[in-house]
Amino acid sequence: MGLSRKEQVFLALLGASGVSGLTALILLLVEATSVLLPTDIKFGIVFDAGSSHTSLFLYQWLANKENGTGVVSQALACQVEGPGISSYTSNAAQAGESLQGCLEEALVLIPEAQHRKTPTFLGATAGMRLLSRKNSSQARDIFAAVTQVLGRSPVDFWGAELLAGQAEGAFGWITVNYGLGTLVKYSFTGEWIQPPEEMLVGALDMGGASTQITFVPGGPILDKSTQADFRLYGSDYSVYTHSYLCFGRDQMLSRLLVGLVQSRPAALLRHPCYLSGYQTTLALGPLYESPCVHATPPLSLPQNLTVEGTGNPGACVSAIRELFNFSSCQGQEDCAFDGVYQPPLRGQFYAFSNFYYTFHFLNLTSRQPLSTVNATIWEFCQRPWKLVEASYPGQDRWLRDYCASGLYILTLLHEGYGFSEETWPSLEFRKQAGGVDIGWTLGYMLNLTGMIPADAPAQWRAESYGVWVAKVVFMVLALVAVVGAALVQLFWLQD
Ligand SMILES: *[C@@H]1O[C@H](CO)[C@@H](O)[C@H](O)[C@H]1NC(C)=O
Ligand SMILES: *[C@@H]1O[C@H](CO)[C@@H](O)[C@H](O)[C@H]1NC(C)=O
Ligand SMILES: *[C@@H]1O[C@H](CO)[C@@H](O)[C@H](O)[C@H]1NC(C)=O
Ligand SMILES: *[C@@H]1O[C@H](CO)[C@@H](O)[C@H](O)[C@H]1NC(C)=O
Ligand SMILES: *[C@@H]1O[C@H](CO)[C@@H](O)[C@H](O)[C@H]1NC(C)=O
Ligand SMILES: *[C@@H]1O[C@H](CO)[C@@H](O)[C@H](O)[C@H]1NC(C)=O
Ligand SMILES: *[C@@H]1O[C@H](CO)[C@@H](O)[C@H](O)[C@H]1NC(C)=O
Repeated sequence: MGLSRKEQVFLALLGASGVSGLTALILLLVEATSVLLPTDIKFGIVFDAGSSHTSLFLYQWLANKENGTGVVSQALACQVEGPGISSYTSNAAQAGESLQGCLEEALVLIPEAQHRKTPTFLGATAGMRLLSRKNSSQARDIFAAVTQVLGRSPVDFWGAELLAGQAEGAFGWITVNYGLGTLVKYSFTGEWIQPPEEMLVGALDMGGASTQITFVPGGPILDKSTQADFRLYGSDYSVYTHSYLCFGRDQMLSRLLVGLVQSRPAALLRHPCYLSGYQTTLALGPLYESPCVHATPPLSLPQNLTVEGTGNPGACVSAIRELFNFSSCQGQEDCAFDGVYQPPLRGQFYAFSNFYYTFHFLNLTSRQPLSTVNATIWEFCQRPWKLVEASYPGQDRWLRDYCASGLYILTLLHEGYGFSEETWPSLEFRKQAGGVDIGWTLGYMLNLTGMIPADAPAQWRAESYGVWVAKVVFMVLALVAVVGAALVQLFWLQD
């Protein structure tokens, strides 16, 4: 046996083309990598001081691609141990100390020479908004404590501030659209282009104490107090945004409990949103301390109530509806609930934070229709507590609340914001967009550091990731073509 001389030559050619093609590919990769990874990476840190906890986000980008051409990525997301800073009313200093652990974790990832050049921000949201209403001197003490700790850490600390609900909504919207590349995009032809406005997505955020809805409506925004304007990459955007204080998940759960206690005061509270067979003791005092609760505990009640789950989704939905004032919108056009103006919904929406966490647990993040979502949550609410508890042994402190928060989200989106069976498919439940966690923090940092310029960049023609990918793809195609041609030739001869 043996190959003919012709076949040997062809095999040799084939091998050679394969090897040289591969070499070219490797060279291209090495060259491109050295272009894409210059030594100077910049960093930025944002603390998201929410009502239930604080998170640290570390972002990084290339120093030579500032002013809009850079792509910011997330290098670290760290959950601060302990509760939100607004809980440290009796020991403000500890609120500052609690941030140390995550900060140290972030500093490990940043070269020491750059520590002092790393812009660091702390933004507080609805938890502190509520506290400063209730007792502004306590809120001031807490801000002073976190400012002191971050001010003496080896970073470039820009300050701690209370974010208004509108800013929280707007920055969440910027984060989503920046992550998705719907504000500006690098095209295959090597130009920066502006995607059509229909590509912009709305943002639905739900924290512990407040919830935000932000989108670009199709028509004018009639209530100017709900309008936020900004200029990004040379385009003007007018978004509708509203933040509902006391409609975050945790405050909603407290208000729900109080509503049930008030409507039927008794030492044994039967809770329709807790699964049947669930039982616990509830201390009444702390429940009524929330600034979102405007009632006093019935005098006839003991300090501690026994709470029993009944797993009744119908009764649960009725109790949840009591948290909304739908009648205040009756007869008014473009009104959501509690008398709040809302223009007609438009386009795609990303629902994140507690929207995502709740629906992720319930396996409802894969674009199920509204009827399936409803049926799934109702089915979950009717499961016996014993079975559910056994499936998730001690791993989830929110386990008893998923029925309530699932039905709450459904009520808010469907009856509150007005998503119907037809518009429900425009909702995506997501945690991330373009590799970054969705929240207000990235949009906030981009804005404060001026990394999204108001004007369109003049010369945006640097090597981009998209072009690099295209090059690789074309090289691979070329390689495949060469090999294919050689193979055809080879088999053709053997015929
Ligand atoms: C970005 O813009 C600022 C001022 O707008 C300028 O000082 C800086 O040099 C610019 N950076 C780059 C890399 O072009
Ligand atoms: C606010 O808190 C401080 C200290 O905890 C307390 O002395 C003060 O009475 C509180 N003020 C109000 C209005 O509750
Ligand atoms: C209420 O419950 C707490 C523990 O949850 C307990 O420390 C307290 O003594 C109880 N109070 C009364 C009046 O039973
Ligand atoms: C609902 O809003 C209307 C109009 O703002 C008000 O008159 C009514 O008292 C509210 N209902 C409740 C239950 O708060
Ligand atoms: C979600 O799906 C997983 C895997 O299919 C399953 O184990 C889990 O029980 C489901 N969760 C709920 C709440 O039904
Ligand atoms: C959810 O399902 C229940 C029971 O099947 C039904 O009564 C209710 O109207 C449904 N809700 C929605 C929003 O479809
Ligand atoms: C971004 O920051 C500038 C000041 O640097 C401010 O005027 C502007 O309103 C901010 N944008 C948004 C959306 O808040």
